[in-house]
Amino acid sequence: MSEILRIIQDRHSSRAPFDREHQPSKQDLMQILEAARWAPTAHNMQNFEIIVVDDKKRLEELGEIKSRISEDFLRENYQQLSHSEEELLQKKVGILGAMFPPSWRTPGDWRRVARESEPSVLDQTIKGSPVLLIVTYDTRKRAPASVGDTLGFISLGCVMENMWLMAEELGIGFQIMSVFGGDEVESEVKKILGIPEYLKIAYAIRLGYPISKSSQSPRVRRDIAGFAHHNRFES
Ligand SMILES: Cc1cc2nc3c(=O)[nH]c(=O)nc-3n(C[C@H](O)[C@H](O)[C@H](O)COP(=O)(O)O)c2cc1C
Repeated sequence: MSEILRIIQDRHSSRAPFDREHQPSKQDLMQILEAARWAPTAHNMQNFEIIVVDDKKRLEELGEIKSRISEDFLRENYQQLSHSEEELLQKKVGILGAMFPPSWRTPGDWRRVARESEPSVLDQTIKGSPVLLIVTYDTRKRAPASVGDTLGFISLGCVMENMWLMAEELGIGFQIMSVFGGDEVESEVKKILGIPEYLKIAYAIRLGYPISKSSQSPRVRRDIAGFAHHNRFES
């Protein structure tokens, strides 16, 4: 197997708590940012700005932000869940329900579950990470004629993947946290970090070293024949 394919296959989401006291080195962080630097972006517009947060006090402030789960998230999340490893292995798409609280993986009145869920603090999501990368995009840098800035969003995905592969190669745990881009959380984060209005948060990344080996759910993917079509779309 080629080296690049090995890194692509080994890259994974690291959801276990990280060691608060074990910082990735400055050189490693620079390599991750170097990987972001060389990401392809639509029209080479480099529509991203990344805020590296490693100051303990700032991390604490971010950790105090509260977020609420939405009814829409609960409903649509449920549709992607498998309820056992066997089901996941068979479906080959989606994620294992066991990573969510029981009320999120039991079908029911999502509106009520959302209403009754206690807001959680971001600290529970950050889980001890000594460094966060807040990836923002510049709304003034929309790629030419890109309706809804679709090309800009694809570019942010390229930035994500470049950094993720670099982190994998360096042995640094990496988890995407979409919650940072949610409206309420985003405005609080922007206040704390002094992020200007024209920048929107796309996602945040936890970096660090897991304090324990988390029990990994099986990593599944469709077979190539499940998504690649030859000359003509065949379902
Ligand atoms: C755009 C995007 C958003 C994601 N958001 C989250 C997130 O909020 N929390 C999380 O734990 N993983 C998040 N992930 C990671 C995916 O759940 C993960 O990549 C997928 O389940 C495959 O698992 P793997 O990364 O271990 O291969 C996100 C991934 C992408 C590309």
